[in-house]
Amino acid sequence: MLYTLKNKIRNKIRGLKKGNLSVNDRCEFFEVDGWVLSDFILKKIIPITGVRPFPMGELELMTAAVCRIKPTHIFEWGTHIGKSARIFYEACKLYSPQTEIHSTDLPDTADHEEHPRNKRALLVKNIKAVHLHQGDGLDTSLQILKKATNIAGKTYGVNPLFFIDGDHSYDSVRRELQGIYAAFPQSHILLHDTFLQSKESEYNIGPHEALEEFLTDKRDKYQVIATETGLPGMTLLYRKSVT
Ligand SMILES: C[S@@+](CC[C@H](N)C(=O)[O-])C[C@H]1O[C@@H](n2cnc3c(N)ncnc32)[C@H](O)[C@@H]1O
Repeated sequence: MLYTLKNKIRNKIRGLKKGNLSVNDRCEFFEVDGWVLSDFILKKIIPITGVRPFPMGELELMTAAVCRIKPTHIFEWGTHIGKSARIFYEACKLYSPQTEIHSTDLPDTADHEEHPRNKRALLVKNIKAVHLHQGDGLDTSLQILKKATNIAGKTYGVNPLFFIDGDHSYDSVRRELQGIYAAFPQSHILLHDTFLQSKESEYNIGPHEALEEFLTDKRDKYQVIATETGLPGMTLLYRKSVT
Protein backbone atom coordinates (compact mmCIF):
# COMPACT_ATOMS: atom_id res chain seq x y z
CA MET A 1 0.00 0.00 0.00
CA LEU A 2 2.71 2.42 1.15
CA TYR A 3 4.87 1.27 -1.77
CA THR A 4 2.09 2.01 -4.27
CA LEU A 5 1.47 5.47 -2.83
CA LYS A 6 5.20 6.28 -2.88
CA ASN A 7 5.42 5.13 -6.50
CA LYS A 8 2.39 7.17 -7.49
CA ILE A 9 3.91 10.33 -6.00
CA ARG A 10 7.27 9.60 -7.58
CA ASN A 11 5.69 9.09 -11.01
CA LYS A 12 3.72 12.30 -10.69
CA ILE A 13 6.90 14.24 -9.93
CA ARG A 14 8.73 12.58 -12.83
CA GLY A 15 5.83 13.38 -15.14
CA LEU A 16 6.30 17.04 -14.35
CA LYS A 17 10.06 16.95 -14.88
CA LYS A 18 9.83 16.67 -18.65
CA GLY A 19 13.43 17.78 -19.17
CA ASN A 20 15.02 14.64 -17.76
CA LEU A 21 13.63 11.17 -18.19
CA SER A 22 16.87 9.42 -17.32
CA VAL A 23 16.59 7.67 -13.95
CA ASN A 24 19.43 6.81 -11.57
CA ASP A 25 21.88 8.75 -13.70
CA ARG A 26 24.84 7.91 -11.56
CA CYS A 27 24.15 4.18 -11.67
CA GLU A 28 25.81 1.79 -14.07
CA PHE A 29 22.83 0.46 -16.00
CA PHE A 30 20.55 2.05 -18.56
CA GLU A 31 17.27 3.33 -17.08
CA VAL A 32 14.63 5.82 -18.20
CA ASP A 33 11.12 6.67 -17.08
CA GLY A 34 9.10 4.40 -19.37
CA TRP A 35 5.73 5.88 -18.40
CA VAL A 36 6.48 9.47 -19.31
CA LEU A 37 8.41 8.32 -22.35
CA SER A 38 5.35 6.34 -23.52
CA ASP A 39 3.18 9.46 -23.17
CA PHE A 40 5.71 11.35 -25.29
CA ILE A 41 5.80 8.66 -27.99
CA LEU A 42 2.01 8.47 -28.23
CA LYS A 43 1.50 12.22 -28.33
CA LYS A 44 4.50 13.49 -30.28
CA ILE A 45 6.03 10.69 -32.34
CA ILE A 46 3.34 8.32 -33.57
CA PRO A 47 1.17 11.10 -35.08
CA ILE A 48 4.17 12.04 -37.27
CA THR A 49 5.86 8.73 -38.10
CA GLY A 50 3.32 6.02 -37.29
CA VAL A 51 4.74 2.63 -36.33
CA ARG A 52 6.41 1.69 -39.63
CA PRO A 53 9.24 0.97 -40.11
CA PHE A 54 9.76 1.39 -36.34
CA PRO A 55 7.24 -0.46 -34.13
CA MET A 56 6.49 0.71 -30.57
CA GLY A 57 9.38 -1.11 -28.91
CA GLU A 58 11.86 0.41 -31.37
CA LEU A 59 10.43 3.91 -30.96
CA GLU A 60 10.92 3.43 -27.25
CA LEU A 61 14.53 2.31 -27.64
CA MET A 62 15.40 5.21 -29.99
CA THR A 63 13.89 7.90 -27.77
CA ALA A 64 15.11 6.26 -24.56
CA ALA A 65 18.65 6.31 -25.97
CA VAL A 66 18.38 10.07 -26.46
CA CYS A 67 17.02 10.60 -22.92
CA ARG A 68 19.63 8.45 -21.20
CA ILE A 69 22.73 9.21 -23.26
CA LYS A 70 22.06 12.88 -24.02
CA PRO A 71 24.57 12.58 -26.86
CA THR A 72 26.66 15.50 -28.03
CA HIS A 73 26.06 14.23 -31.60
CA ILE A 74 23.74 11.82 -33.37
CA PHE A 75 24.96 10.42 -36.68
CA GLU A 76 22.45 8.33 -38.60
CA TRP A 77 22.21 6.68 -42.00
CA GLY A 78 20.38 6.26 -44.26
CA THR A 79 18.08 9.22 -44.14
CA HIS A 80 15.48 7.76 -46.56
CA ILE A 81 12.32 9.89 -46.10
CA GLY A 82 13.57 11.06 -42.71
CA LYS A 83 11.56 9.07 -40.18
CA SER A 84 14.43 8.16 -37.87
CA ALA A 85 15.94 11.65 -38.19
CA ARG A 86 12.57 13.15 -37.24
CA ILE A 87 12.22 10.81 -34.24
CA PHE A 88 15.66 11.83 -32.98
CA TYR A 89 14.87 15.49 -33.60
CA GLU A 90 11.58 15.39 -31.65
CA ALA A 91 13.23 13.55 -28.74
CA CYS A 92 16.24 15.89 -28.65
CA LYS A 93 14.03 18.97 -28.76
CA LEU A 94 12.57 18.04 -25.36
CA TYR A 95 15.17 15.84 -23.70
CA SER A 96 18.59 16.69 -25.12
CA PRO A 97 18.49 20.13 -26.79
CA GLN A 98 22.29 20.42 -27.09
CA THR A 99 22.57 17.37 -29.39
CA GLU A 100 23.75 17.98 -32.97
CA ILE A 101 21.94 15.72 -35.46
CA HIS A 102 23.50 14.62 -38.76
CA SER A 103 21.71 12.38 -41.27
CA THR A 104 23.32 10.95 -44.40
CA ASP A 105 22.01 9.09 -47.42
CA LEU A 106 23.74 7.99 -50.60
CA PRO A 107 24.15 10.45 -53.51
CA ASP A 108 21.24 10.73 -55.99
CA THR A 109 23.34 8.89 -58.56
CA ALA A 110 23.72 5.82 -56.32
CA ASP A 111 22.30 2.55 -57.54
CA HIS A 112 20.67 1.25 -54.33
CA GLU A 113 17.23 -0.37 -54.33
CA GLU A 114 16.12 1.50 -51.20
CA HIS A 115 17.30 4.95 -52.27
CA PRO A 116 14.38 7.37 -51.73
CA ARG A 117 15.17 9.50 -54.83
CA ASN A 118 13.16 12.76 -54.68
CA LYS A 119 11.52 11.76 -51.39
CA ARG A 120 14.82 11.99 -49.52
CA ALA A 121 14.45 13.65 -46.11
CA LEU A 122 10.82 14.71 -46.69
CA LEU A 123 10.08 14.71 -42.94
CA VAL A 124 13.07 16.83 -41.93
CA LYS A 125 14.05 18.94 -44.91
CA ASN A 126 12.63 22.13 -43.40
CA ILE A 127 14.14 21.53 -39.97
CA LYS A 128 17.40 23.46 -39.66
CA ALA A 129 18.55 21.50 -36.61
CA VAL A 130 18.88 18.35 -38.72
CA HIS A 131 21.99 18.56 -40.88
CA LEU A 132 21.58 16.60 -44.11
CA HIS A 133 24.42 15.08 -46.10
CA GLN A 134 24.91 12.86 -49.13
CA GLY A 135 27.68 10.27 -49.30
CA ASP A 136 28.61 7.10 -47.51
CA GLY A 137 27.13 7.22 -43.99
CA LEU A 138 30.18 5.99 -42.11
CA ASP A 139 32.80 8.03 -43.97
CA THR A 140 30.72 11.23 -43.93
CA SER A 141 29.90 10.94 -40.22
CA LEU A 142 33.43 10.18 -39.10
CA GLN A 143 34.76 13.08 -41.15
CA ILE A 144 32.37 15.49 -39.42
CA LEU A 145 33.08 14.13 -35.97
CA LYS A 146 36.84 14.21 -36.45
CA LYS A 147 36.60 17.87 -37.46
CA ALA A 148 34.40 18.64 -34.44
CA THR A 149 36.75 17.02 -31.97
CA ASN A 150 39.93 18.48 -33.34
CA ILE A 151 39.80 22.24 -33.14
CA ALA A 152 43.02 24.21 -33.52
CA GLY A 153 45.09 21.07 -32.91
CA LYS A 154 43.27 20.22 -29.66
CA THR A 155 41.05 17.18 -29.17
CA TYR A 156 37.69 17.74 -27.50
CA GLY A 157 35.62 15.05 -25.79
CA VAL A 158 32.38 13.94 -27.40
CA ASN A 159 29.63 11.51 -26.48
CA PRO A 160 28.24 10.36 -29.83
CA LEU A 161 25.31 8.11 -30.68
CA PHE A 162 25.39 6.38 -34.07
CA PHE A 163 22.30 4.89 -35.72
CA ILE A 164 23.12 2.28 -38.38
CA ASP A 165 20.20 1.77 -40.80
CA GLY A 166 21.79 1.69 -44.24
CA ASP A 167 22.50 -1.36 -46.33
CA HIS A 168 21.51 -4.15 -43.86
CA SER A 169 24.08 -6.63 -45.15
CA TYR A 170 26.61 -8.55 -43.04
CA ASP A 171 29.52 -6.85 -44.81
CA SER A 172 28.22 -3.29 -44.53
CA VAL A 173 27.20 -3.57 -40.86
CA ARG A 174 30.52 -5.24 -40.00
CA ARG A 175 32.44 -2.43 -41.69
CA GLU A 176 30.33 0.25 -39.99
CA LEU A 177 30.65 -1.21 -36.49
CA GLN A 178 34.39 -1.65 -36.84
CA GLY A 179 34.83 1.81 -38.34
CA ILE A 180 32.96 3.54 -35.52
CA TYR A 181 34.79 1.59 -32.84
CA ALA A 182 38.21 2.21 -34.35
CA ALA A 183 37.67 5.98 -34.59
CA PHE A 184 35.50 6.69 -31.51
CA PRO A 185 35.43 3.72 -29.14
CA GLN A 186 33.39 5.69 -26.58
CA SER A 187 30.38 5.78 -28.96
CA HIS A 188 26.97 4.33 -28.20
CA ILE A 189 25.59 2.47 -31.21
CA LEU A 190 22.02 1.73 -32.21
CA LEU A 191 21.42 -0.75 -35.05
CA HIS A 192 18.29 -1.50 -37.01
CA ASP A 193 17.21 -4.84 -38.53
CA THR A 194 19.00 -6.99 -35.99
CA PHE A 195 16.24 -9.57 -35.47
CA LEU A 196 17.38 -13.20 -35.31
CA GLN A 197 15.27 -16.09 -36.63
CA SER A 198 16.32 -19.57 -37.70
CA LYS A 199 16.97 -20.31 -41.36
CA GLU A 200 13.47 -21.69 -42.15
CA SER A 201 12.27 -18.06 -41.99
CA GLU A 202 14.61 -17.06 -44.83
CA TYR A 203 15.17 -13.72 -43.09
CA ASN A 204 18.26 -11.64 -43.68
CA ILE A 205 20.22 -12.13 -40.48
CA GLY A 206 23.39 -10.46 -41.77
CA PRO A 207 23.15 -7.51 -39.35
CA HIS A 208 22.68 -9.89 -36.40
CA GLU A 209 25.68 -11.95 -37.42
CA ALA A 210 27.86 -8.85 -37.84
CA LEU A 211 26.78 -7.62 -34.42
CA GLU A 212 27.53 -10.94 -32.71
CA GLU A 213 30.96 -11.04 -34.32
CA PHE A 214 31.68 -7.46 -33.27
CA LEU A 215 30.73 -8.22 -29.67
CA THR A 216 32.88 -11.35 -29.39
CA ASP A 217 35.72 -9.59 -27.57
CA LYS A 218 33.79 -6.52 -26.39
CA ARG A 219 30.85 -7.80 -24.34
CA ASP A 220 32.29 -6.29 -21.17
CA LYS A 221 32.28 -2.83 -22.78
CA TYR A 222 28.56 -2.57 -23.54
CA GLN A 223 25.18 -3.14 -22.02
CA VAL A 224 23.26 -4.73 -24.90
CA ILE A 225 19.55 -3.84 -25.05
CA ALA A 226 17.50 -5.36 -27.87
CA THR A 227 13.91 -5.59 -29.05
CA GLU A 228 13.53 -9.27 -29.81
CA THR A 229 9.83 -9.95 -30.31
CA GLY A 230 9.75 -9.74 -34.11
CA LEU A 231 10.88 -7.88 -37.21
CA PRO A 232 12.70 -5.62 -37.85
CA GLY A 233 14.54 -5.67 -34.51
CA MET A 234 16.75 -3.04 -32.96
CA THR A 235 19.78 -3.26 -30.70
CA LEU A 236 21.42 -0.61 -28.57
CA LEU A 237 25.04 -0.98 -27.59
CA TYR A 238 25.10 1.22 -24.51
CA ARG A 239 28.73 2.01 -23.81
CA LYS A 240 29.66 1.49 -20.19
CA SER A 241 31.58 4.45 -18.84
CA VAL A 242 35.29 4.20 -19.45
CA THR A 243 37.21 4.55 -16.17
C1 LIG B 1 15.82 1.20 -44.70
S1 LIG B 1 16.23 2.71 -45.37
C2 LIG B 1 16.46 3.69 -43.93
C3 LIG B 1 15.19 4.12 -43.26
C4 LIG B 1 15.31 5.41 -42.54
N1 LIG B 1 16.29 5.39 -41.47
C5 LIG B 1 13.97 5.90 -42.04
O1 LIG B 1 13.87 6.26 -40.88
O2 LIG B 1 13.01 5.93 -42.80
C6 LIG B 1 17.87 2.49 -45.94
C7 LIG B 1 18.48 3.76 -46.51
O3 LIG B 1 19.89 3.66 -46.40
C8 LIG B 1 20.47 4.24 -47.54
N2 LIG B 1 21.86 3.69 -47.61
C9 LIG B 1 22.26 2.47 -48.00
N3 LIG B 1 23.60 2.36 -47.87
C10 LIG B 1 24.06 3.54 -47.37
C11 LIG B 1 25.33 4.05 -47.02
N4 LIG B 1 26.46 3.32 -47.16
N5 LIG B 1 25.42 5.32 -46.56
C12 LIG B 1 24.31 6.08 -46.41
N6 LIG B 1 23.07 5.65 -46.73
C13 LIG B 1 22.93 4.39 -47.19
C14 LIG B 1 19.52 3.86 -48.67
O4 LIG B 1 19.65 4.73 -49.78
C15 LIG B 1 18.14 4.02 -47.96
O5 LIG B 1 17.64 5.32 -48.11
